[in-house]
Amino acid sequence: MKLEVDRVSKHFGATAALDGLSLHLGEARVLVLIGPSGGGKSTLLRVLGGLEVPDAGSVQVNDHRLSADPAFLQAYRRRNGFLFQQFNLFPHLDARRNITLPLEKVHGHDPTAARELADQALGRFGLLEHAAKLPAQLSGGQQQRAGIARAFAFSPEILFLDEPTSALDPEMTAEVLELIQELAEAGQDIILSTHEMGFAKAVADQVAFVAAGKIEECQPPGRLFASPDSPACQRFLSRVMRY
Ligand SMILES: Nc1ncnc2c1ncn2[C@@H]1O[C@H](COP(=O)(O)OP(=O)(O)OP(=O)(O)O)[C@@H](O)[C@H]1O
Ligand SMILES: [Mg+2]
Repeated sequence: MKLEVDRVSKHFGATAALDGLSLHLGEARVLVLIGPSGGGKSTLLRVLGGLEVPDAGSVQVNDHRLSADPAFLQAYRRRNGFLFQQFNLFPHLDARRNITLPLEKVHGHDPTAARELADQALGRFGLLEHAAKLPAQLSGGQQQRAGIARAFAFSPEILFLDEPTSALDPEMTAEVLELIQELAEAGQDIILSTHEMGFAKAVADQVAFVAAGKIEECQPPGRLFASPDSPACQRFLSRVMRY
């Protein structure tokens, strides 16, 4: 994927969630956003995915120049897959229906085709035997995988994952990490945020450090974790890598 983000701002009341943020990325398969809580990672993911319209600045994702036009945004959002920190699966629908419903309602597949695509995605992520379970009957890792399966089922241009491993134990984190690596190796472009530096290091082509609504630096993980340029990133890493 290619990204051209130029001086983007997004305010919520008096809070500047994004504050003149710029990012120019020529080519990357997996972009990982790291940084302190409240720094703007989720807001940036939402802006890049067309779920939030910035107050100022310009955003180009591949060959799409993002605009505030509702028809453009609706079509653009449909191209992408999302998994958020919260609000992932519909609690009253089983895992399979969680996947077939958006395929039918949002992407216009007929029920038979939707079921085929859903079962392919469930099978790929080792969830076929759990297809008839409600989210509450799935483990945290299974829920997270079902959420990724749903976002992935219709072949999104870019998969946006907001802290896909939050609330998972280390083994399940490893499971989700392997899944994301597999998707990336199969050619899926992914932008994700995480608080787990080991995860970021393992999965990223490029890591962007987001703090106070800006990207302080963006580097390949080997470079960023070994010798970050910006003092803010150095401080952040020295704190989070201590434990
Ligand atoms: N819908 C909203 N309404 C009001 N303020 C918001 C909203 N969304 C985000 N903010 C504020 O914008 C800032 C950036 O939030 P954001 O969720 O993007 O941070 P983050 O880097 O994802 O944090 P975390 O690591 O905790 O998930 C925060 O100060 C947050 O309180
Ligand atoms: Mg967030």
